[in-house]
Amino acid sequence: MKISVLGCGYVGLVSGACFADFGDTVLCADLDETRIAALERGDIPIFEPGLEQIVASNTQSGRLSFTTDVPRAVREADVVFIAVGTPTRRGDGHADLSYVYAVAETISKSLTGYTVIVTKSTVPVGTGDEVERIVRQGNPDADFSVVSNPEFLREGAAIEDFKRPDRIVVGTDDPRARDVMTEVYRPLFLNRSPLLFVSRRTAELTKYASNGFLAMKITFINELADLCEAVGADVQDVARGIGLDNRIGPKFLNAGPGFGGSCFPKDALALVKTAQDYDSPVRLVETTVSINDNRKRTMAQKIIAACGGDVSGRTIALLGLTFKPNTDDMREAPSIAIVQALQAGGATIRAFDPQGMQAAAALFDGVHYAEDAYDAADGADAVVIVTEWELFRALDLARIKELLRTPVMIDLRNIYRPSEMKQLGFYYSSIGRPNDAHGRST
Ligand code: UGA
Repeated sequence: MKISVLGCGYVGLVSGACFADFGDTVLCADLDETRIAALERGDIPIFEPGLEQIVASNTQSGRLSFTTDVPRAVREADVVFIAVGTPTRRGDGHADLSYVYAVAETISKSLTGYTVIVTKSTVPVGTGDEVERIVRQGNPDADFSVVSNPEFLREGAAIEDFKRPDRIVVGTDDPRARDVMTEVYRPLFLNRSPLLFVSRRTAELTKYASNGFLAMKITFINELADLCEAVGADVQDVARGIGLDNRIGPKFLNAGPGFGGSCFPKDALALVKTAQDYDSPVRLVETTVSINDNRKRTMAQKIIAACGGDVSGRTIALLGLTFKPNTDDMREAPSIAIVQALQAGGATIRAFDPQGMQAAAALFDGVHYAEDAYDAADGADAVVIVTEWELFRALDLARIKELLRTPVMIDLRNIYRPSEMKQLGFYYSSIGRPNDAHGRST
């Protein structure tokens, strides 16, 4: 099977590398010459555990290669995956489809033989119809099918998600395309991953429904966490208590500072806009978006309260800046609202993140970037765990306490136990667990 992937961003690169790892011949194309040159040297532009090794081994074996020649990639392929970006359009919250449509134009000019064109980028309902129209218009005689095959990869766990998916959703009514897609996913199918064939529009909507639901699930537990604090209950026990019900499930019930990243905020908003356009609003998702935006802002208030109500002239150490661990991605990270509000309150920020400091430096002014967690805590008035990187789970807490001017820890990811922290002499504040008047654990 000859596969081409158009767009060497996060989705394109992971998908291309994993298909090559299955034994397919994969050509990944991107117009960005610098990016392609870097990839050819083996430099991976994003931090994703395991990706570099897969790219290296498959490049060496000759199954994976890179090009800026998009028409060639289309010409040589049996299956062309569109994996270009769909950022939020400025001003109205809709997904910006200009890259998808531009690539559809290019594809139309270069098709040879029967080709399956697969949209992997997250695109609103009806985009597949428009891609088909563009390709047909550009090349009326071409023999092709347009399929929707949304991805469900999590940053930081993308290789694992690709190779062991809960399901693969393929949107097409065309039996020929169905056969080709069955062949593409044969290795996973043999591994018992369910391959779900649905209509193209259904597949497009399934992606948004999935992200919308997960965003809602997180927001539900976040609101419950606030209620737990108010009534003196423990949100982690509540999450376990409800999560053991198979109908609810235990995943995505970790209360925290609000969801971020390049997907949930953007996709939830795009789903809201699509639903409004079709006069069929998704009010739960609308509310999810506004609760989550507000939550990120209120996290700074929580930190300020734990510091006694005022951070002016104080130094706050932030551990973790990225929107989640195992990524260098700062998009929509809760840390952004936190840094801004703390700085506005007169605080000085010392921050450490294992991968995100370069991206953070482009966003923040006046933040001091530390060597490690201990350097960040040195002389600070409080330490805040913003992102639950593995290495923050095993901190030498006695050392942290010694380095801090006052032993205050605000744990926005609940990675430590209140009783332990109290025993160690910390004023410890976390999410959704019984607190005192300053929001500190009791
Ligand atoms: C998400 C989905 O999980 C993927 O299935 C989907 O393919 C991807 O979006 C996408 O559309 O491309 P991702 O954004 O990489 O993946 O990260 P998640 O692990 O889903 O986390 C998103 C946010 O939710 C993070 O800020 C995380 O801290 C937060 N979260 C997650 C919680 O606050 N609590 C949880 O229990 C889980």
